[in-house]
Amino acid sequence: MHNYKQRVAHQLSSFIQAVEEHDILALLEYPPNPDMGDISLPCFKLSKLLRKSPQDIANELKETIHGDDIERVDAVAGYLNIFLNRSQFAHEVVNSVLAAGDRYGAQQIGQGRTVVIDFSSPNIAKPFHVGHLRSTVIGNALYRIFAYLGYDVVGVNHLGDWGTQFGKLIVAYQRWGNQQQVETGAIDELLRLYVKFHDEAESNPELENEARAWFVRMEAGDKEALALWEWFIDVSLKEFQNIYDLLGVQFDIFTGESFYNDKMGPVIEELRTKGLLVEDDGAWLVKLDEYNMSPALMLKKDGSSLYHTRDVTAALYRKSHYQFDKVIYVTDYAQNLHFQQCFKIVELMGYDWSKDLIHVPFGRVSLEGMSLSTRKGNVVKLDDLLKQAIAKIQSIIEAKNPHLENKEEVARQVGVGAVIFNDLSANRIKDIVFSWEDALNFEGETGPYVQYTHARACSVLRKANGGEGIDLPEQNVPFAPALLQEQSTSQVLKELYLFTERIEQAMVKLEPSIVSRYLVDLAQAFNRFYHDCPILVDEPELRAARLSIVKCVQITLRNGLRLIGLQSPEKL
Ligand code: ARG
Repeated sequence: MHNYKQRVAHQLSSFIQAVEEHDILALLEYPPNPDMGDISLPCFKLSKLLRKSPQDIANELKETIHGDDIERVDAVAGYLNIFLNRSQFAHEVVNSVLAAGDRYGAQQIGQGRTVVIDFSSPNIAKPFHVGHLRSTVIGNALYRIFAYLGYDVVGVNHLGDWGTQFGKLIVAYQRWGNQQQVETGAIDELLRLYVKFHDEAESNPELENEARAWFVRMEAGDKEALALWEWFIDVSLKEFQNIYDLLGVQFDIFTGESFYNDKMGPVIEELRTKGLLVEDDGAWLVKLDEYNMSPALMLKKDGSSLYHTRDVTAALYRKSHYQFDKVIYVTDYAQNLHFQQCFKIVELMGYDWSKDLIHVPFGRVSLEGMSLSTRKGNVVKLDDLLKQAIAKIQSIIEAKNPHLENKEEVARQVGVGAVIFNDLSANRIKDIVFSWEDALNFEGETGPYVQYTHARACSVLRKANGGEGIDLPEQNVPFAPALLQEQSTSQVLKELYLFTERIEQAMVKLEPSIVSRYLVDLAQAFNRFYHDCPILVDEPELRAARLSIVKCVQITLRNGLRLIGLQSPEKL
């Protein structure tokens, strides 16, 4: 697709030599109001530098913009307003979208570069909670966005599968558990044992020592301890896999914390030789007070490793193994300090690539005012949340469209989609309140709304095809963009055009909500067009031109939904 802003910036830059072309590009705006053109330059932003009034700048620049796809250029109130030729614009957009099809919006800007995305990463033997859901959903969307832009992406599940909690679990299992119960109860049962351990340890502190001893045995490679630990992992992974299957999320590799067990020794040595380790009552830590951070504990008194130790080791391992361009860690903002400490330690070790380690934090989720903590009480299990969403959509379909084919599968796609979309609908750093009514509303800014709009576009295409298939029917008339002049049509075309840019912004800002909000805008623009402009009219040229728009919208909605991890059923 032709990049209009870029071209305008290029033409302007030959005239405004004091400003770099990419800075001019950054100044260009899409005016909210069509009377102000399609692209505009707020000249007051240049007036200090050029020592001229905004209006004088606008007047002078007016002549520099030219091209046969430019309709006219106005200099008004200090703005340079550029109007594109509507027919040519329509022609360009429709042809580009149809030609690219399910690759529309894709680019090759990341070619030859690798991005590692560390996401989801639940903890073994603990419930997969909404924080992990958000990490999974945001990480998965980033994964798809980077891949769409041509990067090699490695999706890593950094499972929490190591640590003293496994010593506790072994003690609890041996005292109060049995094989049968763990097999049937799975994570629920493991959680019960873990909670029981803490209750009992309050009156019997000796249990803590026992647990520590078991963990030391684990770290020493003790067979009995490791067999139990592996079994806890199997049981947990089976449950996590159900959720990943429901969400349609995959990983390239499951390298959990334990993967680094045999790799931490040399890192500790390196920290020591580089003079970064300080002893503190038998334990070893890296001091970070110079950087206004609390110290990071690297080795406990008993010689066992910690969360920090494993993350610093993982960063070094990933650098040598993947030669990454960057690593993106997707977690709740409660881990901000943890990552700042780890990244600083890597920097202090002398690795300038520490700047390529990026924490992508996100806000908390609560369920209609109720917090969803994993500590005692109120645990809303994610599995249940997804299943409830599916059931609710199922009953809506039952009421509104009982003859829909493939009802169960569609309910799954829309129910799960509603939950995913809800997680991506606001800036990730914001805390979000999950409300059933908002998330499932077919008329709100939701996944179901976008999916429904996509299905509506499919239905128009099907009708045009005499009931079968959603391909653009053979149109035996030339494409007549000159017929696409209405305001609502222009708006759809503009939105279609913006797709590529929005994906790139989402990548740069590591913010998938840019894509989800874009999809709502496109869906709204399409629904206005659908309302204002009858599509299956008799006049063949008009019908063909409008149908092409419908097809472009269908393609773009589907591509966008796929990018953020949603499916797009053709009938709803
Ligand atoms: N398992 C951790 C948790 O549940 C998240 C791990 C994130 N990734 C990492 N490399 N530390 O909080």
